[in-house]
Parts: sequence; C-alpha cells; structure tokens
Amino acid sequence: MTKPLSTDQAAMLYGNRFLTEDAPSSDFPASGMSALDAMRLVDEELALEGDPQRNLATFVTTWMEPEAQRIIGENLYRNFIDHAEYPISAEVEQRCIRMLADLYHAPGETTGARTQGSSEAIMLGALSLKWKWKERREAASKPVEKPNLIFGGDVHVVWEKFCRYFDVEPRIVPLQEDKYVIGPEDVEPLIDENTIGVAAVLGTTFTGHADDIVGINKLLVDLKGDKGLDVPMHVDGASGGFVWPFLYPDSEWDFRLEQVRSINVSGHKFGLVYPGVGWLVFREKSDLAEDLVFYENYLGKTDATFTLNFSTGASMVLAQYYNFVRYGRDGYAYVMKAMQENARALAEKLKATGDFELIGDGEEQLPLVAFKLAGEKDYDEFDVSWQLSAERGWMLPAYTLPPNAEDEKVLRALVKQTLSREQIDRLADDIVEACATLEKKGGAHDSERKKMKQSPGY
Ligand SMILES: Cc1ncc(COP(=O)(O)O)c(C=O)c1O
Repeated sequence: MTKPLSTDQAAMLYGNRFLTEDAPSSDFPASGMSALDAMRLVDEELALEGDPQRNLATFVTTWMEPEAQRIIGENLYRNFIDHAEYPISAEVEQRCIRMLADLYHAPGETTGARTQGSSEAIMLGALSLKWKWKERREAASKPVEKPNLIFGGDVHVVWEKFCRYFDVEPRIVPLQEDKYVIGPEDVEPLIDENTIGVAAVLGTTFTGHADDIVGINKLLVDLKGDKGLDVPMHVDGASGGFVWPFLYPDSEWDFRLEQVRSINVSGHKFGLVYPGVGWLVFREKSDLAEDLVFYENYLGKTDATFTLNFSTGASMVLAQYYNFVRYGRDGYAYVMKAMQENARALAEKLKATGDFELIGDGEEQLPLVAFKLAGEKDYDEFDVSWQLSAERGWMLPAYTLPPNAEDEKVLRALVKQTLSREQIDRLADDIVEACATLEKKGGAHDSERKKMKQSPGY
C-alpha cells in the first residue's frame, strides 16, 4: 500500500498551493515556495485585472510585435545608466534623440534625454526653464525669488506637481464651459518678468485637442520684440508628439516656431513602446541649463547625466529604436492613419444614433473619440461607462472636465492599433445596448454608482 500524500505533496503533484490557500500579503514569508507555485500565484492574480484589448482608457501601448518583445525580453538585465559598460545602449539613446530632433525640425545640433515617461521629461524640461530664467535674471541683477509658470487647466497633473515640488507659482488658465484648450488671449494677462515659461499641450488628456501653440508663439515673439521679455514655451507632446508629425505634418507646433524651446513626448504612448520610456528634446544645446548636468566619474569613465532617476532598464530605449527603424515615417503614418480612420468610424456611428454629441469634431485631435450624451436622459455618462463595463467588459472612462468646465461630463474612447474595424462596430453596438439597458432600468442603481471610478485614465 502506498502512503497517502500530504497536502503539500498532493498540491505539488496535482495542482498548486494557492488553489486552497490565501496568498501571502503582509508578513515577509518565512520560507519560499517552488518557482511554479510563485509564477501561478502571480499569474492567477493578474488574470483578474483589466483586459488590455478592451482598455479604451489608456494612452499607453498595450501591444508590440513579437520581434520587439524579443529585444525587450533579451535585454532586461541591461542597466541603462551603466554607460561605461553598455556604451551601445547609450549611443542608441542618442540616435533616438537625434531622430526626434529631426522629426521636430530642430534647427541644428541639439541635446535631450531619455526619461521614465513624460512626467520625468516635464520635470527636467521645466527645471531647465527655471534655471535659464534664473541665469537671465541674475545677469541683469534682478531678484529670483518669485518664479511663475503659465499653463491651462487642460494639462496633466504633472505640471502642478512640478510647481509644488520645485517651488514655482502655477498660473493656471481655467477652462470654460465651451473652451477646453488655451490660446494667447488667456496667456497674455498672466505674463510678467518672473514667468519662467509657458507650457502648451499637444493632445490633451481630456479631449485630445491642442492648445493654440501658433498663437501663443506669436504672442511670445511679439513680447520679445516689443518689450525685450524672452519667455520660452515648452510643448507637452506626451501623446501628440508622435501623432501630429504623421497626421498633421503641415501644422506647426514644434521647433519651426521660434519660442518653442523644449518638447517632451511619451515613447510608451503613441511612440508604440511598452511602459517605461519618455523623451525630452531641446531646441538647441544652450536651452539645457548647464548647471543641471552632473559630470561624474562612474566606473572609470566621466559621464554626464541629466535625469531624476539613476538605474533603469535599457530595454525600452532599445525597443524605441527598434520602432523607429522598423516603421520609419511611412510606418508611423500608416499606423496613426489607421487609428484615426477607425476613431472616425466610431464617431460617425455614435453620432448617427442621435444619442451622442462629439466633442471638438473636425478639429486636429488624437485618435480618440470624446463624446457626451445629447439631450435629457434618466442616466448620465458615468452610468453608460458602468453599464458598458458590466455588460461587455469594455473600459471606457467617464469623467468631468477640470475647472471651470467641471459641469461637463465626458466619455472617451482611445482607438489603438489593436482595435480593428470589426471591434469598432461591436463597440458601437455595445454602447447602444448599454444605453438601452439604462433606458429600461431608468439609470444606474445607487449601489452601482458608488463603485464607479472617476478618472480619465492615462
Ligand atoms: C498631456 C500629458 N502630459 C503628461 C502626461 C504624463 O505622461 P507619462 O505617463 O508618460 O509620465 C500625460 C499622461 O497621460 C499626458 O496625457
């Protein structure tokens, strides 16, 4: 007779420990487990997270080609900051920066940085604005105690974060009920000699439109000519920096405009790379404040660093370079146009129902559909988002716009490379179905409303 198996032995043979045990969650485990059990534990937990294929909320890349995945997987050990040991990775970063400078019409040789995402790029770009302003003020023997930065309520939270972390007064242009981007008329009254710069957005998180960058540039050029006040502009192209060059190549927003001195872009959004890479590009080398660059002797080599972080993986930089050479201008244009066509198809279908109103239809915009309910209903945009998720698992965020447009409720669907026309048709039908259910039940129930999230998604 064979001896009966212990629970552990049986689990090892027929299943895994966590079929019947709670996952460790507070005490540091006294002993470990088999690699298979650990892998299953993590895998099974993650299976309950959102399905990327139905995630219409995120701007961030959820799919890359198998060849790119192989490059990423094979280089996970490579510490990007070890320039002495991994000089080729450092050179690949420089190639990417030069290619972006070319894409953004930099007038000559320039500089920039790989970052963790647009947030780090914005912190660094805005720090450079602050330092350059300080240099100008000190050269003119003027006080440097009260720097301010101008931007609209349509920016990402990182701009307010920068102001708080680095002691700069935020001068925020509020949105209006029917105006969700900013222009020169909003900026002009806020500028003074303590303004370190103006931040303009190319492709806002909220509706996907752009600030009037041409108009703001003209205002700043005139100001320089009339009053000798040189106020630089930083363009937050987190999403738009990989969209506008391909969908709207004749639209000027980059270094073709004189006062645009720096640009950030998220490689992990429309740069089509998985999370973990962003870029900062300066117009000219002199736009980077020299004081912010640290020269150090690292592992026997003098290295110049301009980052907030230190160690980080090289994989996403390599993946960005892969995409640049794999797609080129043609390829990026193809992908962006496909997303735009599908976004338009979805927009048309929603408009045709008569139940929805598109926001900023026909204007230059990211490949997304921002819309709201048309007319009086027993339910609102949040209810639609909830119902659609409950019925079909689509994650389509609803949110209110920033002040003073907070009465506006918006639904927003990002249309990514992975969303085919077939899926667009299903999505449109599913939205109509969700509304029909809400119509029948007279809106979402209070218990459902309590569970609703209120974030646009990033
Ligand atoms: C306009 C804008 N700026 C900055 C950010 C922050 O970018 P990241 O997530 O790459 O740090 C986002 C993210 O959604 C954004 O939409």
